Amino acid sequence: MKIKNICCIGAGYVGGPTMAVIAKNCPEIQVTVVDINPERIANWNDENLLKLPIYEPGLDKIIAQCRGKNLHFSTDIPNFIKSADLVFISVNTPTKTSGIGAGQAIDLKYVEESSRIIAKYANGHTIVVEKSTLPVKTAQTIKEILDASTMNNEEENKSFSVLSNPEFLAEGTAINDLVNPDRILIGGEDTQAINALVEIYSNWVDKDKVFTTDLWSSELSKLISNAFLAQRISSINTISALCESTGAKINDVALAVGMDKRIGSSFLNSGPGFGGSCFKKDISNLVYISNHYGLFEVANYWQKVLDINSWQQKRFVELIVKNMFGTISSKKIAILGFAFKANTNDTRESPAIYICRKLLEEGAFLNIYDPKVSSAQISKDLNFSNNQMLNHNWSFSNSLDDAFRNVDAALILTEWNEFQSLEWRNLSKLMRKPAWVFDTRSIVNIEEAQQYGMKVWQVGYGN
Ligand code: NAD
Ligand code: UGA
Repeated sequence: MKIKNICCIGAGYVGGPTMAVIAKNCPEIQVTVVDINPERIANWNDENLLKLPIYEPGLDKIIAQCRGKNLHFSTDIPNFIKSADLVFISVNTPTKTSGIGAGQAIDLKYVEESSRIIAKYANGHTIVVEKSTLPVKTAQTIKEILDASTMNNEEENKSFSVLSNPEFLAEGTAINDLVNPDRILIGGEDTQAINALVEIYSNWVDKDKVFTTDLWSSELSKLISNAFLAQRISSINTISALCESTGAKINDVALAVGMDKRIGSSFLNSGPGFGGSCFKKDISNLVYISNHYGLFEVANYWQKVLDINSWQQKRFVELIVKNMFGTISSKKIAILGFAFKANTNDTRESPAIYICRKLLEEGAFLNIYDPKVSSAQISKDLNFSNNQMLNHNWSFSNSLDDAFRNVDAALILTEWNEFQSLEWRNLSKLMRKPAWVFDTRSIVNIEEAQQYGMKVWQVGYGN
């Protein structure tokens, strides 16, 4: 079966870049990304590439090359489902906020809506591919919804195959991750459908990187990959505290430990805890699923990874207050970075949100600077619905100089490149003395900052 038309439901951080890379590498396939959000689609279609709804290095080039040729963005969902041989479901899968499993289970309503709309408009044989991260066994729900549309309806000329094809890209490196993936995971039962999807990837990925398995193993592997990655971060963050207490150097410990090939050196950077839309939601879901199957020890084990993440952020706020003579009331702090990591404009679950809210509650005034996050987004994230005064205790800075003017401290929360070589000679002059820098990403050259009179606290080193 040769795929000619692909439709992707969901034009977000996964749908957009993933389909762009498919379109670039498969010029003979027409790829259309659809979404219910007209503003998002308008931004994907904007002539001005600076208005693309997501910032991802290298993405603009591919959009410029493929958009209007074999890559399209549209709100006309029915039409593009009708003409598709293969539909990716790439919608958001947030944690439930109310009802059974609130705070842990995944809210599958967007996946269900997508399945229903595919069931209604698909035509002929359609391969339906789970791209979203989903709880194990979700493919069963999708299949039931799709099959119900064909049952007792002989006039309907439609049939479906469901595959799982989780996405492993990380924001900020998405294009490279998509172009050079460690693996392509495909779960399913229908060999023809699996082969059709393998064929698409084989346009740019070595076939030996494609791993096929059953649906449930594929769905679960995605959750577990995220859980293992997050677990490493919580592990190294516990050790950062131990290093601060003992005088051992966190970066040297991480390096020494990571030199063991069995452990590996990636994902051992201590910091303000993991953010992003997925780690917390996916591990919460793993905890929920484990409890559901009565595996309480398993659930407790993974819950600890989340607990350590919150503890690290709480610990940082307390350390800042303690270092600044026990109070930050009426003090000014420059916040460097609001995105959950460098090279993205995404702030979902960013450690900056919790930390800034707590600093505001302690009475500080914040100058917030991030090269890619907008003032409107920060305002949304920091909104105190029940305390208007706190909503006015921060300002958006357009430059580093702006952010540093008259502040008592600078707090580095995101590891943006431009924060890795701060000009302490000039910046320290803009600050009120004594002046602190709190470096939660371990990127400041401590001696250099100290040379210009800065009092430095760094994760894993302390003062
Ligand atoms: P996102 O919120 O950026 O995008 C999801 C899009 O789906 C939104 O634009 C929304 O409007 C759209 N949508 C929701 N319901 C719809 C419907 N019924 N019809 C059409 N459009 C609809 O989310 P994301 O970050 O792209 O994540 C999507 C999925 O991929 C999640 O399951 C996530 O866990 C997984 N994932 C995310 C990443 C990442 O780095 N963000 C990486 C790998 C996997
Ligand atoms: C993560 C995974 O890395 C992807 O493989 C996965 O596809 C994706 O989640 C997903 O399912 O959504 P992402 O959240 O975009 O990708 O970014 P990461 O690079 O994993 O960073 C997550 C958080 O961990 C960031 O806040 C980052 O600063 C933090 N982190 C990462 C550390 O604190 N230390 C590290 O060593 C690495």
